[in-house]
Amino acid sequence: MNITIFESNEALDRQAAELIARTITERPDAVLGLATGSTPIGVYRALISLSAEQRLSFADVTTYNLDEYVGLPPAHDQSYAYYMKQHLFDHIDIPLAQTHLPDGMAQDLAAECVRYDQMLENQPIDLQLLGVGHNGHIGFNEPAGQLVGGTHLAELEPATRAANARFFEREELVPQQAITMGVASILKAKHILLVARGADKAEIIQQALCGPITTAIPASLLQLHANVTVLLDKDAGKDLMQHDSSLHLVHS
Ligand code: GLP
Repeated sequence: MNITIFESNEALDRQAAELIARTITERPDAVLGLATGSTPIGVYRALISLSAEQRLSFADVTTYNLDEYVGLPPAHDQSYAYYMKQHLFDHIDIPLAQTHLPDGMAQDLAAECVRYDQMLENQPIDLQLLGVGHNGHIGFNEPAGQLVGGTHLAELEPATRAANARFFEREELVPQQAITMGVASILKAKHILLVARGADKAEIIQQALCGPITTAIPASLLQLHANVTVLLDKDAGKDLMQHDSSLHLVHS
């Protein structure tokens, strides 16, 4: 695992954007796995600037998002489809037909999960961007005794709904379910880029990256992957730095 801890969030965002840009430069028809939540917003902003500066084209890129709420149409301002357009797709030259999210409005949600997995099978992900929940969830793979490998319907934990309530008018409006890629789908990506920021993520980051590999902390399964890059701000990295004295802050 390649871990870098940044003094500033701007430097972190820039580094994440550069890694994504490099993937596209090396392979213009790269398949990117994308994430939502507050963490990637700055990364997308940096990627938009970087792609403008470097004239990076997304014309041949394909994207797959990790997850989508069940019951929110794409036009709903809290759907992940809306988020992706707002924070990235509307600002780059990617054809929308090459962008994919699970359809949380599908009549047959089980069939939608199979369809999504089939597409992922046909187009393996080159680089998967990931955030992490306070309870260690990745995508919407919540802590549990057993985890599901493929794309599936997930019941959201009360803690996850409470954490995401800040984006909704009221907590009751946060959907109870989501469709999410499973842990096997995530681990199949050739390269995983995990980003976390804020002191509230410090403990879970330390446990996930240095603690036992357990389904109780789905992000701990990332320890099984051979090519993971972790980018943290100084707050999210503080417990890790205490644990591992070889880790230092990057100042620029
Ligand atoms: C959400 C998403 C995850 C995200 C996580 C952390 O519920 N399903 O993909 O990584 O929770 O969100 P944030 O970045 O807002 O802390």
